[in-house]
Amino acid sequence: MNRLKVNLAQSGYEIVIHDNFSEISNEIKPLWSGEKIIIITDDIVGKLYLCPLVSELSKICSVIYSFTLPNGEGSKSIETLNRIYDFMLSKRVDRSDLIVALGGGVVGDVAGYAAATYLRGIAFIQVPTTLLAQIDSSVGGKVAINYQGYKNMIGSYYQPLLVYINISVLKTLPEREFKCGLVEAVVHALIADASLLQYMHEYVKDVDTLKQCKIEEFIYRNCKIKAEIVEKDEKDKGIRKILNFGHTVGHAIEGLYGYEYKHGECVAIGIVAAFKLSVYFKLISEEKLCYIKAVLSSLGLPLHIDGLNWISVVKRIVFDKKALSDKVTFILPIDIGKVIDYEVSLDNLENIFSSYDI
Ligand code: NAD
Ligand code: GLY
Repeated sequence: MNRLKVNLAQSGYEIVIHDNFSEISNEIKPLWSGEKIIIITDDIVGKLYLCPLVSELSKICSVIYSFTLPNGEGSKSIETLNRIYDFMLSKRVDRSDLIVALGGGVVGDVAGYAAATYLRGIAFIQVPTTLLAQIDSSVGGKVAINYQGYKNMIGSYYQPLLVYINISVLKTLPEREFKCGLVEAVVHALIADASLLQYMHEYVKDVDTLKQCKIEEFIYRNCKIKAEIVEKDEKDKGIRKILNFGHTVGHAIEGLYGYEYKHGECVAIGIVAAFKLSVYFKLISEEKLCYIKAVLSSLGLPLHIDGLNWISVVKRIVFDKKALSDKVTFILPIDIGKVIDYEVSLDNLENIFSSYDI
């Protein structure tokens, strides 16, 4: 078992990495002593892992309810949120109770936002089951739903009491989802730790090897990078923005295609776009762009979408960023492992995207 702490001024918590659910009750016991637990999950994860989780949690709580969402990005919606509130009201959930988010980033984001807002906030725990959620979305307290086709339009910063990672659940994770998780590790490497990219190059050639031998260490390394950034800037006022590397373009593509492509796949395309912008502004060499394309390809990730309408992407970026001026700030690479804020004027952006092969 591995553990690390996210040290925050008001609500620090631990990330526990284990290979089963057997320690979850022991971990929760000192943190919570209410009456009811509400597990929020999705239909795929629920079928696989609800029973073993309930059986462990029943050691510390006799009233456990579960609420199951349809799997997929569509559940990060205001309709789902209303259904969760209705369910909790019907079960008389009160401020002393506990929400457990069992699932990927979708479940974590919507369950976390329900926890943040129901009765002005009740305790919650993240039990992430995708690689993406284990190395990224469960850590740092960003919780949100999508609105009117725009990503994470309504949300909050609301830290969990605990993040409990059971690495064995990754055995059932489809390959495509696993690769999407690797994209967030590439982001971590590109913003903070070039050696992580080298490490990925070594082991990720064979995803099964990574899963079997190195996954715990890999998850730990990624959680540490994310935790250290969140500790410096919990509310995204400064350095935390670097975690959005590749996400500006990625989120725009996700919304534009109605979530047909996965979050990780869109971020992979966003990473390539960020490198191309850097090459355009002479911030980085063409060789580094080729290197990152080779890394992403070797992970089986998309580098572009045929026929992508970049003007529509720009329009979405402008809306997403709520651009009050005529400039948008991108996080751009200046080396592997180093990024900077870089302001691009909107006119310039439209020109670059439409005339240069981004
Ligand atoms: P997801 O939650 O949709 O899960 C992907 C699929 O895998 C789903 O069909 C799910 O049912 C299935 N699944 C989950 N665990 C499984 C398992 N162990 N075995 C078999 N199937 C399993 O997607 P995701 O990639 O985990 O999360 C993407 C979401 O996370 C996006 O909405 C994104 O915006 C959000 N996100 C949030 C943050 C944050 O900081 N809050 C960071 C990154 C991404
Ligand atoms: N995934 C971006 C962040 O947590 O800040």
